[in-house]
Amino acid sequence: ADTSLDGFPHYLIKEIHEQPRVLERIIREHPAQARELAELISRSYGTFLVGCGTAGYAALAGSYLFSRIARRHVNSVVASEFKYQEHFLTERSLVIALSQSGETVDVIEAVLAAKRRGARVAALVNVTGSTLDRLADFTLPLLAGPEQSVLSTKAYTAKLALLLLTAHILNGSEHVGLDLLWRAVDGMVRALTPDFQDRVKAVADRLADHQHCFVIGRGLSYPTALEAALKIKEVSYLHAEGFPGGELKHGVIALVEPGVPCFVFSPLDETRADILSGAMELQSRGGWIIGVSPEDEAVFDVHLPVAEVGDASPLVNVIPAQLLGYYLAVRKGLDPDKPRNLAKSVTVK
Ligand code: G6P
Repeated sequence: ADTSLDGFPHYLIKEIHEQPRVLERIIREHPAQARELAELISRSYGTFLVGCGTAGYAALAGSYLFSRIARRHVNSVVASEFKYQEHFLTERSLVIALSQSGETVDVIEAVLAAKRRGARVAALVNVTGSTLDRLADFTLPLLAGPEQSVLSTKAYTAKLALLLLTAHILNGSEHVGLDLLWRAVDGMVRALTPDFQDRVKAVADRLADHQHCFVIGRGLSYPTALEAALKIKEVSYLHAEGFPGGELKHGVIALVEPGVPCFVFSPLDETRADILSGAMELQSRGGWIIGVSPEDEAVFDVHLPVAEVGDASPLVNVIPAQLLGYYLAVRKGLDPDKPRNLAKSVTVK
C-alpha cells in the first residue's frame, strides 16, 4: 500500500495534492459502475444518501446534484439521525451509504436498519473489504488510495465526482458529466499551484489570531460552506461556522464584528447575485471578506481565484479550504494529521 509521504511533510498535504489523480482515475475506470448505480436509483422509490462528518456533507451535496442535474429527489440524512427516520423505508427504498473507512458505526447501523426493512443498500466506500463493503448489495469503490490523515479530503472529492457522474448518467448526459470532471481535474491542478497556495498561506497568516470565522454559500456551495468550516475547525481549532447565505439575517449577522473573517463561495451560477449581496451585508458590519470565485468581485477584500467548472464547483472550491486548514495548523504548530480528540474512524458508540 502507498503509505509513504512522497516527500511531503504531512499526509494531509500529500492527500490534498493527490486529488487530481484520484479524479482522473475515477473518470477512466468508473463510468460502468456509475451506470449500475444510476440503474439502481432509477428502479428505487425513495433514495437516501447517508454518511457522517465529511461523508455526510458529500451526501448533502449529492442531493443538490441529483436535483439540478437529474431532476430527481434524493434525500440526504446524517447517518446518526437516520434511525429516527427509518420509518420511511420500504422494500423499494435504496440507501446509498457514503464512507471513507466503511467502518463508521453510525453508517453501519443505518445500513443494518435499511436491510431489516428489506431496502437495497449501495455503498460508496474507499476501503475494500470493509464492513460496509461487505454488507452492501452493490459497492462503488472510491479508488482514492489509503487516506492516512484524520481529515478526509480525497475521499470527499471522489464521492462528489461519483455522485455528479451518476446524476448525469441518470439524466442521459454521461458525456457532459465526464467533460465536467475533466474540467475539475484542471481546476484542481490550478488550485494546487505554488502561487495559489501562497495566497492561501497569506490568508492563514491573517486568520491565526482570530477566534471565529464564518463561511457562506448557497445551493451547491452550501455543502461546500459546511465542509470548509469543518476542515478549518477540526485541524486548526479556529471556530468556523458554515451556513447558507440566506440565513445570515436570521441570526448569524448578529455575531459579525469589525475584522471578523468571512469566507464567501461565489461560483458563477444562479447563486451569484444573492451570495454577493450577503457578502455586502457582512462587509457593511465590518466583516473581512475572502471570496472564493472565478471572478474578482468588488466586495472581496481578498480574492482566491478558482477555475470556472460549472456544476463541478464543489470539487474545486473545497481545495482552498483544505489548504487553509492545513496551513493554519502548521502555522499554529499543530499536528495536521492528528487533531486532538478525533479518530480517523469512529467505530464504537
Ligand atoms: C471521523 C473522521 C472524519 C470522517 C468521519 C466519517 O469523524 O474524523 O474525517 O469524515 O469520521 O468517516 P468515514 O470513514 O465513514 O467516511
